[in-house]
Amino acid sequence: PTPTQLAGLRVLVTSGPTHEPIDPVRFIANRSSGRQGHAIAAAAAAAGATVTLVSGPVAIPDPAGVTVVRVETAREMLAAVEAALPASIAVFTAAVADWRPATETGSKIKKDGSGPAPLALVENPDILATIAARTTGRPDLVVGFAAETDTVIAHAQAKIARKGCDLIVANDVSEAGGVMGGGTNTVHLIARDGSVETWPTLDKDEVGRRLVARFTELLQR
Ligand code: C5P
Repeated sequence: PTPTQLAGLRVLVTSGPTHEPIDPVRFIANRSSGRQGHAIAAAAAAAGATVTLVSGPVAIPDPAGVTVVRVETAREMLAAVEAALPASIAVFTAAVADWRPATETGSKIKKDGSGPAPLALVENPDILATIAARTTGRPDLVVGFAAETDTVIAHAQAKIARKGCDLIVANDVSEAGGVMGGGTNTVHLIARDGSVETWPTLDKDEVGRRLVARFTELLQR
């Protein structure tokens, strides 16, 4: 994309994992590094967009020219996303925890000799589905990600309808691929009609640039 292709447009990107506290010192998390989401935010900024990046806890630098909002939990991420709207394009790259502990105890859970403490979980809000279902203020283009370890494409085709988004970027995060935390990604683009386009394995920065170019095209249709 050229540096002016998204000029005047607002783009929202979520990135990284979420952390869901169990007690003051423990949390549930996942292996997302934030590299793909951050690369998309950087590419959108390079294309001239005004970008807000809502990021879970990551160990990588903020992309240049982007407003970064840092959050920890899924519920904080949803609130930050809602506060960052309106946007023309919303890209939900974050690996949001599906469940969180039902209660967060105010003090560290102790070993009391009666065995492990039970860990009850409750469902987190689905940020992507919530924003895609908006009747007012829905971004023109809502993009979801699908991180799967098996039958990647079939799962993504089912997900696009369930989530109500316009495009799903699916990738295989099974261990052999090394996608989570790694520098490259092999993605499949799944459209609303179920059609699939598979890209070669590319550097995550290059995936970011190509995705932004595609989003720009889709917006112009
Ligand atoms: O259902 P699943 O987690 O596989 O869907 C992945 C997509 O949904 C990603 O785009 C992710 O950012 C988004 N998601 C979300 N909120 C959740 C769970 C997933 O926005 N609670």
